[in-house]
Amino acid sequence: MEESQDDVSELAQTSLKMRVLGIESSCDDTAAAVLADGVVLSSVVASQDDIHRRFGGVVPELASRSHLRNITPVIEAALEGAQVTLADIDGIAATCGPGLIGSLLVGLSAAKAIAYVRGVPFVGVNHLEGHLLSARLESEVAFPYLALLVSGGDTSLYYAEDIGRYRFFGCTRDDAAGEAFDKAARVMGLGYPGGRLIDALSRQGDPRAIRFPRARLKPRRGQSDLLEFSFSGLKTAVWQYVRDHPITAESMAADIAASFQEAVVDMLLEKTQIALDRTGCTQLVIAGGVAANSRLRERACALGDASGVHVTIPPLRFCTDNAAMIALAGAYRLQRGEHDPLSLNATADFEL
Ligand code: KG4
Repeated sequence: MEESQDDVSELAQTSLKMRVLGIESSCDDTAAAVLADGVVLSSVVASQDDIHRRFGGVVPELASRSHLRNITPVIEAALEGAQVTLADIDGIAATCGPGLIGSLLVGLSAAKAIAYVRGVPFVGVNHLEGHLLSARLESEVAFPYLALLVSGGDTSLYYAEDIGRYRFFGCTRDDAAGEAFDKAARVMGLGYPGGRLIDALSRQGDPRAIRFPRARLKPRRGQSDLLEFSFSGLKTAVWQYVRDHPITAESMAADIAASFQEAVVDMLLEKTQIALDRTGCTQLVIAGGVAANSRLRERACALGDASGVHVTIPPLRFCTDNAAMIALAGAYRLQRGEHDPLSLNATADFEL
C-alpha cells in the first residue's frame, strides 16, 4: 500500500498564492489568523481557560458567550498583526465542525458576514482536517503520511494521502486522550486544563511506580481492521487508586501522574506502530493539543529513530487549537476555485 509522490495532486506540491483569513471557534478558543502564500503572517488565540477552570471543563454556554465577546477583537488583532486590512484578503475560511454548535456558529457567522460584505469567497473547514494539515504550516511534510490526532475532543489515526484524501484508521471508543488527561488531573485535584499540569508534574515522577491498565479492545465484528483506543478504564483506575491511596506528598502525586501519562503514551504509540507497519509509511505526524506532551514527543521521536520513520510534530502554538491551520486547509480549497454557499451551517458531528 506504499504510495509515492507521483500519486499526490499538483495542488499539494505547488505553493499557495492567496491571502486567506482563517477563523476558528469550535470549542473554547477564539482564534483568527492570516496566511499569505502559505506563510503564517499572524495567528491570534484568545483562551477561555480562566472562565472554565472553576468548572473543571468547558461549559458550552459560557464558551459561546465568550466567543461573542472575543471574535471581533481577535479578528482585528490578526489583521493588525499581519499588517493588512480586510480589503487585502482574497478569501475566508472558518471551522464549520465538528465542535460545540454554539461556539462554531460564532466564528462561522463572522466569517460569512465578512465574506458577504467584502464579496470574497468563503469555505467551511473541518476542524480535524485543520489539525491533520497543521504540520505543513512550518515544515515540508510531503504526502503520504500517517497522522495521530490527539486533542481534548479527539484521538484518531488517519492516513493522509493527499489534500482532501484522508483514510480513517480508527479513533477512541470513549474519552479522547486530552479528556483523560483533564479528568485524571481533576481526580488528583490538580486543576484545569490538566494535560499541561500532569505533564509538568510527571517530570519529577517515576513512570513505572504504578502499573495502570492499558486497554485491550476486542475487535468489532466486521471491522477488525479498526485501530481503536480507549481511555475511560484508565481514568477509572486513576480514580480508584487515588480513592484507596490519598495523595499525601508531592512525590506521590508525581508518581501517579507519570504512571498515568506513561499508560496513555503506551496506548497511543502501540496503535500508531501497528498503523505504520500496515501502511509501510515512513512519515508520522502528531497533531492536536496532546501533541504538546513532552513524554509523547520524546517517545515518538525514539520510535521514529528505531524504525526509520520521520516524525513531525508542529510547534506548540500550532498543536493546540488555532486558526492558521484552518486558513491553510481553506487556502487549498480556495486556490482550487472552490467555495461554499453562505447558507453553510455548523455541524457538531462532522466526519472527515
Ligand atoms: O487541540 P486542543 O487545543 O483543543 C481541544 O481539543 O479542545 O487540545 C486541548 C487538550 C486538553 O485536553 C489539554 O489538557 C491537552 O490538550 N493538553 C495536553 C498538554 N497540553 C495540552 N495534554 C497532555 N500534555 C500536555 N502537555
